[in-house]
Amino acid sequence: MPAFDVDALRAEFPALAREQDGRTVAFLDGPGGTQVPQRVIDAVGDYFANANANSGGAFTTSELSDAMADEAHAAVADFLGAASPDEVKFGYNMTTLTLHVGRSIGATLGPGDEIVVTALDHEANVSTWEAMAADRGVTVRKVDIREDDVTLDLEDLESKLTARTKLVAVGYASNAVGTINPVAEIVARAHEVGALTYVDAVAYAPHGPIDVRALDTDFLVCSAYKWFGPHVGALYGKAAVLGSLPAFKVRPAHDRFETGTAAFESIAGMLAATDYLRDVGRAYGDVTGAPGAGEASERRRELVAGMTAIVAYERELVGRLIAGLGAIPGVMIHGIADSARAAERAPTVSISIDGLAPRAAAEALGRVGIYVWDGDFYATGLIERLGKADVGGVLRIGLVHYNTAAEVDRTLEALERLAGTAR
Ligand SMILES: Cc1ncc(COP(=O)(O)O)c(C=O)c1O
Repeated sequence: MPAFDVDALRAEFPALAREQDGRTVAFLDGPGGTQVPQRVIDAVGDYFANANANSGGAFTTSELSDAMADEAHAAVADFLGAASPDEVKFGYNMTTLTLHVGRSIGATLGPGDEIVVTALDHEANVSTWEAMAADRGVTVRKVDIREDDVTLDLEDLESKLTARTKLVAVGYASNAVGTINPVAEIVARAHEVGALTYVDAVAYAPHGPIDVRALDTDFLVCSAYKWFGPHVGALYGKAAVLGSLPAFKVRPAHDRFETGTAAFESIAGMLAATDYLRDVGRAYGDVTGAPGAGEASERRRELVAGMTAIVAYERELVGRLIAGLGAIPGVMIHGIADSARAAERAPTVSISIDGLAPRAAAEALGRVGIYVWDGDFYATGLIERLGKADVGGVLRIGLVHYNTAAEVDRTLEALERLAGTAR
């Protein structure tokens, strides 16, 4: 297999050529949203130029639009490892999809029922369920974290699972500190008490292969704008579970969970993003040896190979970042920093700097063309739990596969200067 050629991949992303004061910008803001390859931009434009129509018409552009949407459902089913495109529903974004399907799940619940959320999650997988629970008189139990390594406290989870638990909402990876949860294990435990599972894979999806069938989760959600596509969300739901839930839909709608006219141009772009990831798999992955290679479609094998190649590349990159951060006096890493535990984290690293507010640090980095996020990133409960709410949250350096070792080194140098002057 050829070595991962990050420069060749970067050449596909026009935004990555952006310069500021004569230097190429380092986009380390991926957890907030990634840049897109040219083919995604082209697919959106091409949709408008050649296939722009509503669904179900008796004319060519409507047929083209519907064929594209069918293909996109099949591609995202392959991206997630779903058994059928019918198990994939597109929507405005993860939050809106969650509020929508949450209403359906909530309609089956009432007083005496319990749901479990976690202190590690983005509020889109917490407040959404709390709102549903308040509406239905359902009790919410929140699983705590272990403060030392910012991982989920699995003993606390265990203590919160009872015969009354009807739903466990958990993140695949933390968008704030990068922790990857043992999702398959959590799903198995939830199922043992008869609960449904809802996995927020928004922060994980750009960083590794997803296999909803191996996880056995009832639901899993992600958003294409975090994995090199446009702003559109995708929900996986097990066919039997989706079929058993009441749906809130208008009378003539053909789908029970996709409401109104879809963002077809974004869906076309999402399809092109899966195409890009397939190419990554073909170029740098092991398409024949991918897990489940025997039964999987060619597209699924290529996608898994692509995401697996991305895991290997990103792991090295984040190792370099964490080692460098650990050597800067005054910098504290929140979350897993032990290189032996690399498989337990995504390359999203949050830090605090002694004497320097996260916003001030982000501004200083932004001025030298290094784009990072500060704040709570809507992981509001987690940032409160870490005692960082009153100091402006944390500074988040988010790597994806188009970032480079040179960008990491440049960021470390800038941080060293900043931390030095702050002390
Ligand atoms: C982990 C996680 N979950 C959910 C969301 C919300 O996703 P969306 O913007 O698609 O609603 C985000 C967005 O940052 C996220 O990082």
